[in-house]
Amino acid sequence: MNQPLPSFSSDAVVRIRSQSLRGRNLISGVTDKVSLAIGEPDFDTPQVIVEAQIEALRAGYTHYSPQEGRAELVDAILKTAVAVADKGFSSENILVTHGGAAGLTASIQGLLNPGDTVLLEDPTYSLYLDGINLAGASVRRFARGEDGAFDFNRIEQDAKGAKLIILCHPSNPTGAVISRGEWTSFADIVKRNGLFLLCDEAYEGLTYGDSPFVSALDIDGLGEHLLVSRTFSKKYAMTGWRLGYLVGDPRLIASASTVHRTFNGAINSANQIAGATALRKAGEEAQAMWRRFDKRRGLMESCLRKIPAIQFRRPDGAFYFWLQYPAGLGTSLEVAARAAQAGVMVRRGEEFGSSGKYALRLSYATDEASIVEGVARLGRVLAD
Ligand SMILES: Cc1ncc(COP(=O)(O)O)c(C=O)c1O
Repeated sequence: MNQPLPSFSSDAVVRIRSQSLRGRNLISGVTDKVSLAIGEPDFDTPQVIVEAQIEALRAGYTHYSPQEGRAELVDAILKTAVAVADKGFSSENILVTHGGAAGLTASIQGLLNPGDTVLLEDPTYSLYLDGINLAGASVRRFARGEDGAFDFNRIEQDAKGAKLIILCHPSNPTGAVISRGEWTSFADIVKRNGLFLLCDEAYEGLTYGDSPFVSALDIDGLGEHLLVSRTFSKKYAMTGWRLGYLVGDPRLIASASTVHRTFNGAINSANQIAGATALRKAGEEAQAMWRRFDKRRGLMESCLRKIPAIQFRRPDGAFYFWLQYPAGLGTSLEVAARAAQAGVMVRRGEEFGSSGKYALRLSYATDEASIVEGVARLGRVLAD
């Protein structure tokens, strides 16, 4: 008699599936659809970057790269992207990753043991929770108050016994950024409680407020506590290229690297040459996309101001608006499903944490006509 097979899924897979909040596409029979659900730039990758990759392939960059990243890209990261931090970083502080997602996952698996505790904002990007469940760790959530301020006393309480805090800055889904003053409080909590800090700066370069973006890398004293994850996906419209990098303490980088090489191996060589070109030569193209996003942010805000039922804050970063609506209208899954039937796709707030039960995420990474039409359709759904 043949033995029955064991489970087709590891315990880690079961843990991830049972708690994952990650988005699933809502199916609707409606064909005239406008999508405000998109999480990537609608622009093509700038030609200068595309040409650099083609040239690199022709020049023979078709072999394995070093696991930590090619010298050309690591050097460009050190000289451009993190130069502002002026911390005396060297190649030991950098790991080139398979997009932001792999950098984040490698950081989380490189640090956490089963039973560890992680502090997460609510709402926040849903990938972190899956990574934490993969590691067998658990989560404590904290939220900003209604005025948008962090409750640092509460965070300090929650930090007791925790190992890691993950911050998304600028935030997906709210577009909020962390100010220099708030960074000082986070840094104090991190140091006092012996925490590590993983800062996801996927939307670095996409901030619009009056005050400049303050990277976690610019905060004094975070040094050995800190890993920052960045990606070429958003700022350079390179989501399909799968290129990102980690910056931080060499010991944290080494741990992440051990995991990263296990899951991903070395990164596509020609893409890395193109990434170096993005950092060195695509500044103007990135600025042009940024200007379009900023304009669309204004457009979406003025359209949203016409919907009386909702509340929102003007986002300072990324390309999202986070709307709260009255609970009487139903859960975010129900409202997003009604919106889909009415021909506008949005993301349900619950995907980002329980605080999103009566919230929606709208993306303005789409053309102006879609923004106007999509928000008008949503307004009718919320008025019904
Ligand atoms: C906050 C945040 N971090 C990381 C990622 C993943 O980026 P990548 O496409 O480079 O894996 C995303 C993608 O939507 C994101 O929103």
